[in-house]
Amino acid sequence: MSIKVNEANLLFHLQGKNMSYIMKVPKGQYLTHLYWGKKVNHYRESNKIIFMDRGFSPNPDDSDRTFSLDTIPQEYPQYGNGDFRIPAYQVQLENGSTVTDLRYREYKLYKGKSKLKGLPATYVEDDSEAATLEIILEDKLTGLLVTLTYTVFNGLDVITRSVKFTNTGNEKLKILKAISASVDFRDDNFEMITLYGAHNNEKNIERRKITSGIQMVDSCRGASSPQQAPFLALVRKNTDEDNGEVYAFNLVYSGNFAAQVQLDQYKNTRVSIGINPFDFSWILKPGEEFQTPEVVMTYSCKGLNRMSRTYHNLYRKRLCRGEFRDKIRPILINNWEATYFDFNAEKIQAIAVDAKKLGIELFVLDDGWFGKRDDDNSSLGDWVVDKRKLPEGLKALAEKVNNIGLDFGLWFEPEMISIDSDLYRAHPDWCIHVPNRSHTLGRNQLILDLSREEVCDYVVEAVCKVLSEAPISYVKWDMNRHMTDIGSAALPVERQRETAHRYILGLYNVMDRITNRFPKVLFESCSSGGGRFDPGMLYYMPQTWTSDNTDAVCRLKIQYGTSFTYPSITMGAHVSTVPNHQVGRITPLSTRGHVAMAGNFGYELDLTQLTEEEKELVKKQVALYKEIREVTQFGDFYRIFSPFEGNEAAWNFVSEDKSEVVASYFKILSQPAAAITTIKFKGLESEYLYENLKTGEVFGGDELMNVGITLPRVKQDFLSMLWRFKRVR
Ligand code: DGJ
Repeated sequence: MSIKVNEANLLFHLQGKNMSYIMKVPKGQYLTHLYWGKKVNHYRESNKIIFMDRGFSPNPDDSDRTFSLDTIPQEYPQYGNGDFRIPAYQVQLENGSTVTDLRYREYKLYKGKSKLKGLPATYVEDDSEAATLEIILEDKLTGLLVTLTYTVFNGLDVITRSVKFTNTGNEKLKILKAISASVDFRDDNFEMITLYGAHNNEKNIERRKITSGIQMVDSCRGASSPQQAPFLALVRKNTDEDNGEVYAFNLVYSGNFAAQVQLDQYKNTRVSIGINPFDFSWILKPGEEFQTPEVVMTYSCKGLNRMSRTYHNLYRKRLCRGEFRDKIRPILINNWEATYFDFNAEKIQAIAVDAKKLGIELFVLDDGWFGKRDDDNSSLGDWVVDKRKLPEGLKALAEKVNNIGLDFGLWFEPEMISIDSDLYRAHPDWCIHVPNRSHTLGRNQLILDLSREEVCDYVVEAVCKVLSEAPISYVKWDMNRHMTDIGSAALPVERQRETAHRYILGLYNVMDRITNRFPKVLFESCSSGGGRFDPGMLYYMPQTWTSDNTDAVCRLKIQYGTSFTYPSITMGAHVSTVPNHQVGRITPLSTRGHVAMAGNFGYELDLTQLTEEEKELVKKQVALYKEIREVTQFGDFYRIFSPFEGNEAAWNFVSEDKSEVVASYFKILSQPAAAITTIKFKGLESEYLYENLKTGEVFGGDELMNVGITLPRVKQDFLSMLWRFKRVR
């Protein structure tokens, strides 16, 4: 990793492990992009930008007809002085004009990486782990400074980028758009991959051709959303899991975003990603700053698997934080699908007793323990135990569960308020709303206005009070509706469009305070499943409930897509009952176990209803997961067969020292006259000899990877197989 600056011609060369990223300021003015791709050791501008007079392309400063922002590749493009493509930002002046002219002013270089004020971001523990370049651009007329920050990390092919706007002038500016990164590629040989979905159907992989004009994915739901992930990758047409180039972008943000690709008239491809400019603006008074979220850009010349491993590595080690970052995660049992709202202390204890017998380590009490919540129509905001269900209170229940031998975890939905709640009766204006308009309800609830300090304080105090009064070692932090009627009673007219972003800043502040106050509590975020599974949330909470859909077959796709950016240790995955509650499918318990073991493993069913035979199998699954979780939670992950492409799925994990392998294979439907499958494992050490722990057979790493194992023909739907290999020499 290094950042080299050629002072003479203002050329900036950032290097990762296998990649180079190069920029330059031609004619001392506009910051242009020269290259991003495979590493070059000595760059001498062999791919010089060709300046030429092109029809309809305007020239700034009434001068050189060969210089036009409309055609040159840029780092942070603007609208108004020649570039008609997607701008990176737009700022309105007091006179109503939206023209600004950012030109190069100076740069700063330093070791390490600075924190982003109020926002989650990747970090370093030691300055030697990264190098950072700040390039400062200036609009002389207004005094607007724009600081572009680039960080490269040791041993990784990652560049993080973010942007800071500083108003050093005398007039009030209004930011209409401020994205985190824009990259101009000088060719069109790409396809685009995004992750789309819905509640119960998150993170589907979509690969499409790029056509002229703009293609975009976004969210205006107040959350990063299950509909589109804040992720976009450009891939070469021949790129697959293990070959070809990938340029990926993932925004560290949990709110409204937009990710766009534009193919222009001269076959250049522009990518841009950041806060969604739709329904957004931000007043920047003299002396004030605005910080955009960070985008994590990765480059891979070895396909999508390498892209994912880069993300996994960085996110596991330098995005997630706290006590649990490097700790084995507990196997949990959650009562949601077992009881929904209908439980009492006896029922909970009965499940806990069985869980203990089976080796499970943590009991999680889900929705319904507070207020008078017998369904989802009331009580959000009233974080006081419901004595009808738990007459002795939470502390007594948690202690009983502890005495049974399990840790105790609890569900909250702290960002919400029910109209039928004491909190709403006391503070009807604490919700996000527009005066004089009726509420648009979602799950019969409203969203607390976290853009307000006093509301954030209330949430922090209410959650902390519960956590300090009972031995709670895990929190499931849920969020179950999207934002409508966006407005804040506390903001002036001209700042109403700041509400959605201020909400996210408030949320980050709340999570920061609570997680800091309870560093020994394991937090898992959730938004009706994976509706807000994004790097922003992972910064505060190191695991996320991947989907409310617990069907093993659906989960193959959901987890496969999620693995594009997020490591297994962050993905909550539970075995549930059959027929499955979301899709009605009946799959074998063993298959449900193998699918869930690819994530952060747990159960979500009524253990007391299992047969003795099923309990025996659960016991074995729990014991097996305890043996393999070091590898699956901290090892490298390789996708082998994609459930998006056929009837099979497969993947394997390899421990960091390559001495242990855990691999799984799934066949969805049994087929007549089916081809025989050979599975070739990935990421092993060619020279090592590995023993199959079940059969005792020994194979070389090269044989397992290049020749592979031929699978037996089994006539069964929803089939699964799991292998464990250990190095013997
Ligand atoms: C949505 C979550 O995703 C579920 O797991 C469960 O916690 C419910 N909310 C509870 O209301």
